[in-house]
Amino acid sequence: MNRYRIAPSILSADFARLGEEVRAVIDAGADWIHFDVMDNHYVPNLTVGPMVCQALRPHARSADGQRVPIDVHLMIQPVDALANAFMDAGADLVSFHPDASTHVHRSIQSIKARGCQVGLVFNPATPLDVLDWVIDELDLILIMSVNPGFGGQSFIDSALRKVEQARRRIEACGKDIRLEVDGGIKADNIRRVADAGADTFVAGSAIFGKPDYKAVIDQMRAALA
Ligand code: DX5
Ligand code: ZN
Repeated sequence: MNRYRIAPSILSADFARLGEEVRAVIDAGADWIHFDVMDNHYVPNLTVGPMVCQALRPHARSADGQRVPIDVHLMIQPVDALANAFMDAGADLVSFHPDASTHVHRSIQSIKARGCQVGLVFNPATPLDVLDWVIDELDLILIMSVNPGFGGQSFIDSALRKVEQARRRIEACGKDIRLEVDGGIKADNIRRVADAGADTFVAGSAIFGKPDYKAVIDQMRAALA
């Protein structure tokens, strides 16, 4: 059984054909759909809201009818009200940046209370210290390997050290927590990111920037094998 997950970010998809793009990338082998939410306040860009998530929810199914998780990455401030709106819209996982919430523990609890999986996201210069207090509550830790806001940026190497640290914390806590990395991931660096301890990989421009999504995802899986 393959423990790695590939989560294409629809940020780099054709926004005029989003439903089709989601179906195409699932047919090409995507495990999750990564859904980037930007508010032009926490990050300097503006993307999509819960209505688009709800519209895409029926498209996020595999050929055999299984639900493909929608992995909502909130780059927004404040967090709680929109987190709720995305759960109403069919999100399977909701992740937020701890520095965007005044009460991180409360935001985590309010997502878990809805039966949704919850993640915390760490920017390139954000320390992992908050995990001392909340790691037991989490389903996912997401390490940013670019500054959030845009697709197509270059991988920041210091993220590898942070992935290693996060992996050690997950092992110490003993819970089954996914370790996801987001930003600048391509077929030619995914192995290094996995070796540092990541098990879930977001890739936007690397997949949607190429004509053959399956070829890229196959290359990524080959590099991980
Ligand atoms: C950046 C987003 C990423 C982005 C990754 O703020 O969180 O998910 O889409 O894009 P690439 O893979 O192109 O770096
Ligand atoms: Zn993202």
